Amino acid sequence: MKFEIGQINPKDHEGNLVFLYGTVVADRSLPLSKKELDYLKTCRVDEPDTIVVFDRLPYKLFIVNFDSELDADQCQERLRRSAAKVVDMLRNAKQTQVSLTGEGVIPEEVVAFAEGLFLADYTFDRYKSEKPVHIEQLTIDQSFLSPDELKPLVTLWDCIRQCREWVNTPVSDLNAESFAAQLQQRAAETGVDCTVFDKKQIESLRMGGLVAVNKGSVDEPRFVVLEYNPGQAVNSKPLALVGKGIMYDTGGLNIKPDNYMQEMKSDMAGAATMASVLFAAAANRLPVHIVAFLPLTDNRPGFNAYAADDVIRMYDGTTVEVVNTDAEGRIILADAIAYAVGNYDPELVIDAATLTGAAVRAIGTYGIAAMQQNAENAFNLLRIVGKKVYERLAEFPFWSEYDELIKSEVADIKNCGIPQAGTITAGKFLAHFARKTPYIHLDIAGVAYFTKKQEYFACGASGYGIRLLYAFIQTYDLLNKPADK
Ligand code: BES
Ligand code: ZN
Ligand code: ZN
Repeated sequence: MKFEIGQINPKDHEGNLVFLYGTVVADRSLPLSKKELDYLKTCRVDEPDTIVVFDRLPYKLFIVNFDSELDADQCQERLRRSAAKVVDMLRNAKQTQVSLTGEGVIPEEVVAFAEGLFLADYTFDRYKSEKPVHIEQLTIDQSFLSPDELKPLVTLWDCIRQCREWVNTPVSDLNAESFAAQLQQRAAETGVDCTVFDKKQIESLRMGGLVAVNKGSVDEPRFVVLEYNPGQAVNSKPLALVGKGIMYDTGGLNIKPDNYMQEMKSDMAGAATMASVLFAAAANRLPVHIVAFLPLTDNRPGFNAYAADDVIRMYDGTTVEVVNTDAEGRIILADAIAYAVGNYDPELVIDAATLTGAAVRAIGTYGIAAMQQNAENAFNLLRIVGKKVYERLAEFPFWSEYDELIKSEVADIKNCGIPQAGTITAGKFLAHFARKTPYIHLDIAGVAYFTKKQEYFACGASGYGIRLLYAFIQTYDLLNKPADK
C-alpha cells in the first residue's frame, strides 16, 4: 500500500472517499444532499458505529459514523474495526484506491483508521496463483497529518507486515538458518548490529537448552543477537527483548496428537515480533538502546531427539529435567534470557512467546497473558500503553508457591509442573533464568495467530504485540525519570 498526503475536497472529490463523521460536528463539509443527510441521521440514531455507503458511480462514498465522545482508546479501536469493514467493501468492489478525510475528528483518530485500513488489507498471498485485490493507494487529508508525521507510522506498520509474512511462511520455506539470514539482511538495511551464532558456536557457548531441542532436527539451530544502540539513549543499560523462535513445533518425541500440530509454524512468532519491534525502533531512530535475543530451531522427533527424563545443563549452569519435550519453548528461551542477563546487564528483560495452550484456554484470543518479576513500574507502563493501542495485558499471579511446582527430584528444576496453572509455571521457569533482573513475560499464544479473521487481523499471523512494545519504547523515558514529588 502506498500512502500519500494531499488536499481533499469532499464536495467534488473524484474517487473513493472515506469520511470519518464524529458526533460533535456541524455537517459543514459532508458531500450529501439534504435528503441523504436526513437518512444518515436516522442511521446514526439506531447504531452509532454504522458505515453508510453512497454510490457515486463509478466510486463509493463511505460515511463512517463514530462516537467521538467515547473514551479515546475505545474510539480509536472502533475506528480500526470500521476500517476493516471498509477494506472488505473495497475488496468486494475490486477498488484499489481510496482517500480519507472527516469532520469532528482529531489526527489520532484519522491515524487509527489508516492503521486499521493497512492492517486489515493484509492477506498472506505468497502461494496464491491469483492474488486478491488490495488497496494500492491511500491518500490522507493534509489537514490532519503531515508527511513527516506519517512516515514513521508507515515504517512501523510495514514492520508488522513483515512480521506476519515471516510467521505465515511454513518451515519448509523458512527454517532457523534462512530466518537468521533474513534477519541479518534486514539488520544491514536498517543499521542494526547483528550477530548470528551457528550450531558449533551455540555448542561452545554451552547453550544446552537450544542444543537439546535441536537434537531431533536435520536443520541446524541459530542464535541471533540484534543490537540497536542510538547515540544518547535515554537508558544507560539496554532493554533486552527475547523471542521464542521455534520454527516448527511438532512436540518432539511427545508428538502433538491429531490436529494439535496445525498452525505450529507460528511458534516463532515471539522471535519475529521482537525482531520487528527492534527494526521499527531502529528505523525510526527511537532513543532507546535495545538488544534482541532470538534462539531459533525447530522441535522434531528425529533419531537423536531429546527425550523425557533427559537432564540438560543450561547456559547458566542450571540443570533441567525434561518431563515433556513439547514444553520446548521455555528451554530455548531460558538459555537466551540467561545469555542476555549474563552478558549485557540489561535494566529490563521482556520476552514474547507462543508458550502455552493454557494461556489460550484462560483468556482466549483477546489479549496477552502477562507476568512480571521485580518489574512493577515497567509492567504498569506496558499495561497503560497496551490499553491505548488495544493490545492488552492480563496479569497472572507470580506467587512463590508456583516455584515449588517446577522443583525436580533429579535436577534443579523441571520443564513442566502439574496440569493446573500451566501458563504461570512456564513463566516461573523462565523467571528463574532472569535472576534479579527486572523481568516481564508475555505469553502471546492466544493472539499471535488467528484461525479465522478477527477484526483488522487477517486469518493467520497477527503481528500482535508489535504496536504494544513500540509504544512502550516510545514512552520508555518515563521509566527512567524520577517520580514527581
Ligand atoms: N507452542 C506450544 C504452545 C501453543 C499451543 C501455542 C497452542 C499456540 C497454540 C508449546 O510449545 C506447547 O506445546 N506447550 C505445551 C506445554 C505442556 C507440554 C506443558 C502446551 O501448552 O500444551
Ligand atoms: Zn511445544
Ligand atoms: Zn512451542
